Amino acid sequence: MVDLFQTLAEAPAGVLEMVGDSLENRAKDPAQQAILERYIGDLDINPGAVVVEIGCGTGPVCRRFAEIENVARVVGVEPASALVERAGTLADSDKLEFRVGRGEETGLADGSADIVVLHTLLSHVPDQSAILDEALRLLRPEGQLVVCDADFSKTSVAIGDADPLQACVEGNVTDRWLCPRLPGLLKSKDLEISAFKGHNRVDVAGISTGPGWVRMGADALVASGRISETAGAALKAECEARIAAGQFYAALPFVSAVARRS
Ligand SMILES: C[S@@+](CC[C@H](N)C(=O)[O-])C[C@H]1O[C@@H](n2cnc3c(N)ncnc32)[C@H](O)[C@@H]1O
Repeated sequence: MVDLFQTLAEAPAGVLEMVGDSLENRAKDPAQQAILERYIGDLDINPGAVVVEIGCGTGPVCRRFAEIENVARVVGVEPASALVERAGTLADSDKLEFRVGRGEETGLADGSADIVVLHTLLSHVPDQSAILDEALRLLRPEGQLVVCDADFSKTSVAIGDADPLQACVEGNVTDRWLCPRLPGLLKSKDLEISAFKGHNRVDVAGISTGPGWVRMGADALVASGRISETAGAALKAECEARIAAGQFYAALPFVSAVARRS
């Protein structure tokens, strides 16, 4: 299993720049923005609210929260220092603060957050329980946890039966079954769900994450020795050719959940 996002803190500068670009591009996608707006609408945000995002990358989700009038402060925590640096450069509000840190141990004070956001983080971490325990430690008693992630168990770039491109999108996250197991995971932490929503996301232009997954997946298949470099290159070329010919289709459903302590 190769999950680029699990070890970004140690990644070379070129990879971090590419990941930063792709996170910023994804945040500009109207479908992605609609998902964010839908779960923001599910939250009770009282005046003076403090929001913590764990695994904030370059900070687009933090920036959106900082625009909300009732939000007083947004702290983004991220292990990759190059992304934290870029988040600082892109920060457009004095409500924003970014720190280098891991979600299992953020170093923030107990009960210091009204809202903790895990936006496309949990599918990339090996110890989801440790992240949830840390989120619960940070939350005030009435605080709300948001989990938003892609349901990678349903991701598809196939445009027909036995489409070989599909093999590229089935193994490049740490836990592709996070979303189907999310209700049980939250319950195991005594969290009560107040909103649980599915969001459809389709990319036919190939400008969003679709071709990125295919490239990453093909490289992972080659790196694990399951296919040859020639086959990997052919899969990537097939993806590029489909995009150029207007035949590309990527479906990636998302899920969002808002929960509080029972
Ligand atoms: C898919 S990106 C999402 C970034 C951001 N939330 C967004 O939506 O633009 C996942 C992020 O989680 C970070 N990450 C990975 N493992 C982590 C951990 N154990 N604790 C905190 N962040 C982590 C990665 O470095 C990466 O920036």
